[in-house]
Amino acid sequence: MKYSSLKVSLLIPFFFYSNYGFSEEITAQGADKVRDFYNEEHFIIEEPEAGEQSPASGKPQTINGVRIGPGDDKTGYETTGYTTNSVAITARQGIKADLIRVVENPPLGLPKIPVPVDNPLTAEKINLGRKLFFDRRLSLNDTFSCAMCHVPEQGFTSHEVEKAVGLEGRSNRRNSPSIYNTAYLERLFHDNRETSLENQIWGPLLSKNEMAMTSFGHVLQKLSTLKDYDGLFEAAFDGEGANILTLGKAFASYQRVLVSGNSAFDRWYFANEENAISDQAKRGFELFRGKGQCISCHSVGEKTALFTDKLAHNTGLGFKRSMGKKPEKERMLIAPGTYAYVKKSKKDLVGHPEMADVGVYEVTQNPDDRWKYRTPTLRNVILTAPYMHDGSMPDLKEVIAFYNQGGMLKNESGFPNVTQSPLIQPLGLTENEINDLIAFMETLTGDNIAEVISDAFSTPVGDTTNEH
Ligand code: HEC
Ligand code: HEC
Repeated sequence: MKYSSLKVSLLIPFFFYSNYGFSEEITAQGADKVRDFYNEEHFIIEEPEAGEQSPASGKPQTINGVRIGPGDDKTGYETTGYTTNSVAITARQGIKADLIRVVENPPLGLPKIPVPVDNPLTAEKINLGRKLFFDRRLSLNDTFSCAMCHVPEQGFTSHEVEKAVGLEGRSNRRNSPSIYNTAYLERLFHDNRETSLENQIWGPLLSKNEMAMTSFGHVLQKLSTLKDYDGLFEAAFDGEGANILTLGKAFASYQRVLVSGNSAFDRWYFANEENAISDQAKRGFELFRGKGQCISCHSVGEKTALFTDKLAHNTGLGFKRSMGKKPEKERMLIAPGTYAYVKKSKKDLVGHPEMADVGVYEVTQNPDDRWKYRTPTLRNVILTAPYMHDGSMPDLKEVIAFYNQGGMLKNESGFPNVTQSPLIQPLGLTENEINDLIAFMETLTGDNIAEVISDAFSTPVGDTTNEH
């Protein structure tokens, strides 16, 4: 088998660790989580024979009669411990939804969608934006679409990785946030640095660690070679073809209608449906707006609730990651819910140096903004694990435990975290209260998730067999 490099692309970190005694370092959380991923077979790399192209080179190959690009062949990835709900490309079929209806009728609990005057929403633009969002050909080697980090069946985020992994397995320093309800944000990214969905696309398209296109012109030129886009921009934009502005507008139009509300909470809180949520969830909401002080930042209005004040705060987490003592063994997420503990010294031998992250300070250069990150919405929060800007918290229990301690006011050597929000205080929540809060957050899932996923599956991921 000459294509075993395929097996390795996702497992590259494990390959390295295998050389450094990784297997001895593995511990697991509870006996039921012991995994058999340390399997010799997964770590073999064979060089392609001379003149032969490895699928990892980016050129589609034919294997067993199936034309594939990198990442498509999952042979050899299976372990008893790893399951994913992601669907194989061939099984990706869905029904287009009437997404634009939310413009006239926003779901219960959500305000009217703000739409820029120069980019009114139309069905043509939404359809075009959807096609672009899932199109892997918009990356340097035809492998990576927006949807591969913002996976629709994973709440438009990525469950498998704490921090986003882009083209050719390159690491990013932050967690992929959900796309749901980004329509309501005036500022985007964890540090609020971007000003519109229209502008936002160039970050990932041109980032070497994401889709790795090399310039604006490169994106537009590549798009012009894709025959299935012929006439689509002109039809959506009054005769105007694809350019820097229309491309942003098309992407934005699809994302803007991915709003999700009318959750059980909304029906209880805004429509007085007494039985829409359990008593436990109701107790959780009381804690959310009382003892927990959560509502000070995860805002709830009188008629609608975004569960974010859109402002950036220092919760202590960024400080802890940058200034706190590094644990001797680092926990690494290797599959949903499964962690390996790796000695830091061994990771340092093989990994990239950790990328610094100082939050909003990087944008404003104001020292008062160190380690501040935007408050994320809590809508659909049970669909969007792992949590926080760095994806370092696997579940809601861990998030609340962190709040319960009161963040981190100084590090182990006494260095103070002067910018921590005064709202972050030790809370004294009991085990039952923590469970109540989680039960409340579980009621925040919108009613249109299945419809939006099916709608997402109705569009192709980009025909990489189509020479261009
Ligand atoms: C390699 C994974 C990856 C790819 C590919 C990717 N994103 Fe993201 N996306 C992220 C990460 C990580 C962030 C947060 C970055 C930050 O805050 O610095 C993000 C943030 C966003 C946000 C801001 C959300 C918010 O809550 O502020 C939007 C919108 C978005 N991406 C849309 C897109 C679109 C559109 C594409 C394709 C053109 C795309 N992404 C491709 C990983 C990815
Ligand atoms: C001072 C403002 C503030 C308060 C008070 C607050 N939060 Fe947060 N919350 C944030 C910020 C900011 C983040 C993002 C932190 C990061 O990315 O590092 C966040 C993140 C979260 C997340 C992770 C969401 C995700 O998608 O990653 C959850 C869950 C959460 N908060 C729940 C709560 C609960 C429950 C409480 C009350 C016990 C609470 N928060 C109190 C500001 C606040």
